[in-house]
Amino acid sequence: PELLMDEQCDSMPYDKRWEFPRYRLKLGIQLGAGCFGRVVKAEAVGVKSSGKTVKTVAVKMVRSTTNVAAMEALVSELKILIHLGSHLNVVNLLGACTKKISKGELLVIVEYCRFGNLQTYIFNQRSNFINLVDEFGNIRAENEEFHIKTESVSMGFNFEKSYENSSNIDCERSPENPPDSPSFWQYQQDPDVTLTRSISTHDLISWSYQVARGMDYLASKKVLHGDLAARNVLLADDGVAKVADFGMAKKMYYEDNYEKTSQGLMPVKWMAIESLTDRIFSTQSDIWSYGIFLWELFTLGKVPYPGMGGGHQLIKSIQNGYRMEKPNNAPNLFGEMMTNCWQTDPKLRPTFSQIEEIHLWSPGIDN
Ligand code: ADE
Repeated sequence: PELLMDEQCDSMPYDKRWEFPRYRLKLGIQLGAGCFGRVVKAEAVGVKSSGKTVKTVAVKMVRSTTNVAAMEALVSELKILIHLGSHLNVVNLLGACTKKISKGELLVIVEYCRFGNLQTYIFNQRSNFINLVDEFGNIRAENEEFHIKTESVSMGFNFEKSYENSSNIDCERSPENPPDSPSFWQYQQDPDVTLTRSISTHDLISWSYQVARGMDYLASKKVLHGDLAARNVLLADDGVAKVADFGMAKKMYYEDNYEKTSQGLMPVKWMAIESLTDRIFSTQSDIWSYGIFLWELFTLGKVPYPGMGGGHQLIKSIQNGYRMEKPNNAPNLFGEMMTNCWQTDPKLRPTFSQIEEIHLWSPGIDN
């Protein structure tokens, strides 16, 4: 019989070319912490063909001789990242320190994303959000702001940055993070950076487009993410959004559908109906999660299914056909997109490349 998917992932070899000397890595403040590990900011000398220059990076680590699951998740994430190759809308691998892995230390070096995770970021921006969607779900094209903003829409705009004195305080798990978040890694915004530019509907559309592109790239590499949510999208310079956290990702080999054998912590509110009922995961179940991600985006970081717990009752409701409504700030096009992502039959959901294409019809994207 075929190997189980997890076993196949374990048998993927580690490519030594990714090894980075530990002494050239200077660890700094903590960016995020989860149940089993943490992410810290760091300076790396000469990482990934940057010559002898110093580069700011993010380092994911597990330091544990006791928690096997956490170590395995990070090893699997490293292998997935190596397999993936790089894409603008994915948090790319830069290197790894695996020498002390037998002593329980593994460091995975990835791109640093200055503005932290999208969920916390949009949640904190809600008081100065510029909504360009009217009560009928149309984007207000006649708005002055619209004409000014169209030039800076899409990927090319610049954030104005203002730096405060950086204090080396470790940040706590932020209260805005969904309480039922299953992620090992709760991302926070770097405390020494604040933004001054207001975000608008156009930024939300740009981020939804970029995440669809990142996910389409994953799908093209036959990788399913398994935990797509606003907390797992990071914001880099110039408004670039990157899909992160591949701790739950799986490489699909023979089948398109991956059936999960072991049950860990599950992101119930982001999970597709077939994942909840039959533990089936596929690129089409990532599409469902993408629909939930859109809802988070246009509610500026609310927890999905407000007022509902994440347990049996929710699963029952979804089985009975209950779906969330279009958020007020979402253009109609995106309301329809959410509804389609939440089709009971996975085959009726759109693909990531179709979702990308739909974005190009939206007035929020220049092309
Ligand atoms: N928090 C977690 N991962 C991060 C990253 N890659 N960049 C910035 N903040 C992070």
